[in-house]
Amino acid sequence: MSRTYDALVLGDYCLDLVFTGLPKLPELGVEVVASGFDYLPGGGGYTCAVALARLGLKVGWAVDFGDDPMSAFVRRRAIEEGLKAALFVDHARPLRRITVAASFPEDRAFLAFYDPDPPVPAAVRALATTSPRLVFVPGVYHGPLLLPARALMRLRGVTLVMDGNSTEDTHLGVASVCQAIGAADLFLPNALEARRLTGEADLARAMARLLELCPLVVIKDGTHGAWACARGSAMVHAPAIEVEPLDTTGSGDAFDAGFLAAWLERKPLETCLAWGNIVGGLSTLGPGGTAVRTTRRDVESRLRAVRPG
Ligand SMILES: Nc1ncnc2c1ncn2[C@@H]1O[C@H](COP(=O)(O)OP(=O)(O)O)[C@@H](O)[C@H]1O
Ligand SMILES: [Mg+2]
Repeated sequence: MSRTYDALVLGDYCLDLVFTGLPKLPELGVEVVASGFDYLPGGGGYTCAVALARLGLKVGWAVDFGDDPMSAFVRRRAIEEGLKAALFVDHARPLRRITVAASFPEDRAFLAFYDPDPPVPAAVRALATTSPRLVFVPGVYHGPLLLPARALMRLRGVTLVMDGNSTEDTHLGVASVCQAIGAADLFLPNALEARRLTGEADLARAMARLLELCPLVVIKDGTHGAWACARGSAMVHAPAIEVEPLDTTGSGDAFDAGFLAAWLERKPLETCLAWGNIVGGLSTLGPGGTAVRTTRRDVESRLRAVRPG
C-alpha cells in the first residue's frame, strides 16, 4: 500500500495567548501586567505536525476549523508551514478553541474555552481515507472511536503513537484508559503524567507498569531529559540540552516530533531520545511549541557538537 504520509497527526487546533514576565499569579480584583505577550497557534496536533514537517517528514494534519477568526488564523499559519489542506475540514459555524497562559519559567496557569466539537471529527475521515506509516494522537484518547480506529489501523499496518497529555482524572484505575494505552504501539507521557497514570512515585516503577500495557514507552522529564524502554529490554536515558527556557509550553509535543523523526528511520532508542531532547529543548527558547524553527540540519549539527567525528 502506498504511504502518502509518514505521519497522520490527529488533534484539534488551539489559539494560545501567552503572557510572560508576570510579577505574580493573576488574582481577583487586581490587574497583573505582563512584560511579554504573544499569540500563536498551538495544541498538541499543530505543534507536532509543524515540528515534523520542519524535520522533513510528509505530514497530514486532520483538523476541524470553523468560520471564526481564530480558526482562520491558525489555518493560514498551518498552510504557511507547508501543511496541506487535504485533511482539513471547514465548518460553517464558529469552532473557537483558545487558551490563555500565564507563563512562568517553571510552569504556567491556563484559562481555556472550547466550542463544542463536531459530531464526526476530521480524524474519522482521515483515518478512513489514508494509510500513513504512523498515526499520532496528541493525548490519551479513550473515547468510543478508539477501538474501531485501532482495528482499521491494524488491518493497514499503521503504527499508533499516543502522547500522555491528559486530565487529572485520567489514570489506570479507569478501564478505558488502560485500553487506550494498551492500543498504542508507542506511548509518550511526561513524568508527571506517568506518575499520575500509574500512581507510582518512582519513575522506574511507573515505566514498568506502563510497559505492561504498551510495548514501547518514553517518559519525558523536563530538565532531566527523557527515558525510553522497550518491553523486555533495559531502560535507556538521554540528558536534556542546556538552555535557559523562556516558555516550556508545547515542549513535550515538539519532543515527540524529534523522537518520531528518528524512530521512523529506525535509529537506536538513545538517538531517538537525543533528537527529542534537542527539538523539545530548543522549543523552550520561544513562546509556545513552534516559535523556534528546528530543522533536520539543526539537529544533526547539535548531535555532531556533542559527539564530534
Ligand atoms: N528546561 C528545560 N531544559 C531543557 N530541555 C527541556 C526543558 N523543559 C523541557 N525540555 C525538553 O522537552 C521535553 C518535554 O518536556 P516536559 O516538560 O517533560 O513535557 P511536557 O511539555 O509534556 O510537560 C523534555 O523531555 C526535554 O527534552
Ligand atoms: Mg505534554
